[in-house]
Amino acid sequence: MTMMKKLHMSAAILALSTTAVAAQEVEVLHWWTSGGEAAAVGTLRDTLAAGGIGWQDMPVAGGGGSDAMTVLRARVTAGDAPTAVQMLGFSIQDWAAEGALANLDALAAEQGWNDVVPAALQAFSTYDGHWVAAPVNVHSTNWVWANSALMAELGIEQPTSWDEFVAAMEAAEAAGHVALAHGGQAWQDATIFDSMVMGVGGPDFYQAAMVDLDPAALGSDTMVEAFQRMETLRGFVDDNFSGRDWNLATAMVINGEALFQIMGDWAKGEFVNAGLTAGNEFQCFRVPGTEGTVTFNSDQFAMFNVSDPAAQEAQLAMASAVLSPEFQVAFNLVKGSVPARTDIPSDQFDACGQMGMAQLAEAAANGGLFGSMAHGHANPPAVQNAMYDVITAHFNGEYDAATAAAELVTAVEIAQ
Ligand code: GAL
Repeated sequence: MTMMKKLHMSAAILALSTTAVAAQEVEVLHWWTSGGEAAAVGTLRDTLAAGGIGWQDMPVAGGGGSDAMTVLRARVTAGDAPTAVQMLGFSIQDWAAEGALANLDALAAEQGWNDVVPAALQAFSTYDGHWVAAPVNVHSTNWVWANSALMAELGIEQPTSWDEFVAAMEAAEAAGHVALAHGGQAWQDATIFDSMVMGVGGPDFYQAAMVDLDPAALGSDTMVEAFQRMETLRGFVDDNFSGRDWNLATAMVINGEALFQIMGDWAKGEFVNAGLTAGNEFQCFRVPGTEGTVTFNSDQFAMFNVSDPAAQEAQLAMASAVLSPEFQVAFNLVKGSVPARTDIPSDQFDACGQMGMAQLAEAAANGGLFGSMAHGHANPPAVQNAMYDVITAHFNGEYDAATAAAELVTAVEIAQ
């Protein structure tokens, strides 16, 4: 045996022993642990199984605020990276900058990803001109999820302005219902904050504050007003909101305990998983004030550098499956999101999915599409976490609105 071959073999044995991944198997780190999310993971696992690829599950509970990235850091530091990792926006770029991600260019060229993945997603899927991640969906965060029966009982139409939205929640509260289902976790507070910033300030302001991090915008009266709206929302959540998981908040809308939830369209995955249909038992509409805009995030699978050729093959098979048109439909029907490709017809999607696809395309064409701060698509993780701290401290009464805006300026400056 030549020296090269020996080296190659020992590297492969090392890779196998440290990752415990057998040939033709992927180990996938993700935070999809709710009912709807687990069902969506199931579609991917089954698709891969049909192609002879095994699945080693590595779930990290906690939703959008899970410790998945910390777990990942520990694994990579130990020289034991998982083969594929669910990842969002700027985190993909950070890992790519470290040289930790595999190059998917050959597969991307063979399958024409450049032509079908929208530019807003490619900005995160590629690094330095090279494909490093496979996008599986587009979620958007500026949605309200509503219980139809409760709306009918209260005589409420879909609100089209902030004032109507507040009036609807007042009516729910007066009738003894929870007006707004919410879980007090930093990432959930940040998710509703995205919409308050967009609703009060509009697209240019969202860009200046959340993306460009302009201190004048961050500390402006407009930002103070966004925080005041957070206080209004805080007044409509129930006493037990603190620490509640997002899917339990969705369950409150599903079972008629609560009227509304402001949440990304992964919430739809919970309604669908409960056997409910969009437009019948539940409704979706854009957070009043944000109509015409979409704050998005895209789940992508970043493939980590692995030396075992069998694991590399499995990675490519997974990336290929993820981008296939059939899978994009099957997965996103269950997940609540919309496809990460622009060439998928919307007719198989439900009312909310069709609306989501049309509005995404419209927003992209009209300059109304923006990365969600709460979900890692507006600014890097250090800034995002600094924003989380201020938003959550304010939501829990530590600051008034004016102080919160001033704190936001300082926190963002320090984080950069
Ligand atoms: C988001 C993620 C979604 C969904 C949600 C709640 O960050 O993009 O796919 O999983 O968290 O867990």
